[in-house]
Amino acid sequence: MTHQVRAVVARGKGAPVSLETIIVPDPGPGEALVKIEACGVCHTDLHYREGGINDDFPFLLGHEAAGVVESVGEGVTDVAPGDFVILNWRAVCGQCRACLRGESWYCFNTHNAKQKMTLLDGTELSPALGIGAFAEKTLVAAGQCTKVDPTASAAAAGLLGCGVMAGIGAAINTGKVGRGDSVAVIGCGGVGVAAIAGANLAGAAKVIAVDIDDRKLETAEKLGATHTVNSKENDAVEAIRELTGGHGADVVIEAVGRPETYKQAFYARDLAGTVVLVGVPTPEMKLELPLLDVFGRGGSLKSSWYGDCLPSRDFPMLIDLYLQGRLDLDAFVTETIALDEVEKAFERMHHGDVLRSVVVL
Ligand SMILES: NC(=O)c1ccc[n+]([C@@H]2O[C@H](COP(=O)([O-])OP(=O)(O)OC[C@H]3O[C@@H](n4cnc5c(N)ncnc54)[C@H](O)[C@@H]3O)[C@@H](O)[C@H]2O)c1
Ligand SMILES: [Zn+2]
Ligand SMILES: [Zn+2]
Repeated sequence: MTHQVRAVVARGKGAPVSLETIIVPDPGPGEALVKIEACGVCHTDLHYREGGINDDFPFLLGHEAAGVVESVGEGVTDVAPGDFVILNWRAVCGQCRACLRGESWYCFNTHNAKQKMTLLDGTELSPALGIGAFAEKTLVAAGQCTKVDPTASAAAAGLLGCGVMAGIGAAINTGKVGRGDSVAVIGCGGVGVAAIAGANLAGAAKVIAVDIDDRKLETAEKLGATHTVNSKENDAVEAIRELTGGHGADVVIEAVGRPETYKQAFYARDLAGTVVLVGVPTPEMKLELPLLDVFGRGGSLKSSWYGDCLPSRDFPMLIDLYLQGRLDLDAFVTETIALDEVEKAFERMHHGDVLRSVVVL
């Protein structure tokens, strides 16, 4: 059997997205069909539409989603119809070299659905990050479904599926922020603000938010920044050093993805401190640094892919913290929108008006 559902498709480079009817097959072995309840609009969806990821148009966009499992294929035991799940793009394989050395958050061979979803004329769709959840239903590998407490709001829970997890994980998993640490976060969009929330959860004593937009700094304060720096008006490195006894922060998280902000992160860090790059650069960007400074300042320079998360370990734990009132996921939801408003949401994102627009179905 197949299902005809409405979905948001990007047909060509830079062209506005369109609402289309697509065909979703019933789940085969190891797959699950999920009825989507909410899906956040992430910068990466816009990157796909602009052809910045690859040229495999048409794309089925959307990947920060939560919903309910409708049916599962042969051999699926971890989730069952009726389960409330957050979708993830890290269904680990258990067999690659990263998984075998016990570091499965780096898994190099993650699972997606084997069967293809298509347009009505049979054209195969490429689902964003192997998910494609701006749709009434989507087909994924069962391992992409992480069961969490169903009393959580779908709009808030879905955000853990990408950007918010990336930010929280950049602080907790990659940066290993600990109690009493000083942390600076450069770029306070959805990812950066999540890193601020993560630093707080980990017990950081000082959390410095840096952005060029005062609206973002206000939200950062709401989510636990103890200090804010507008880096359009002030020198970010000097300001961070001043706020940390002249030394720099123990952990600096770069959540913009640009060489100039990476350099700020590099020099705003205390000796032997940690820089975490979670912002995603574009292919033409280059970084030049005195090699002596790389040596002389010591410490570690890390990148964070999806917050080095393990969905099965991290999603249920973070949802529990959310339900206990210790992690304000609702604060990330600036507005809820309908499926046909994704294009408008891209515009608002482009103007920096929102932390997250979330499609609610
Ligand atoms: N590593 C991962 O797994 C992962 C996952 C999701 C997103 N990301 C990436 O994280 C980055 C941030 O994503 P987002 O959703 O928060 O985007 P966003 O557009 O919402 O936020 C970017 C923020 O950076 C600020 N900014 C821009 N230029 C700046 C500058 N020169 N100095 C200081 N601040 C500046 C903007 O004002 C904005 O607040 C993107 O590059 C995105 O692709 C990475
Ligand atoms: Zn693996
Ligand atoms: Zn995303």
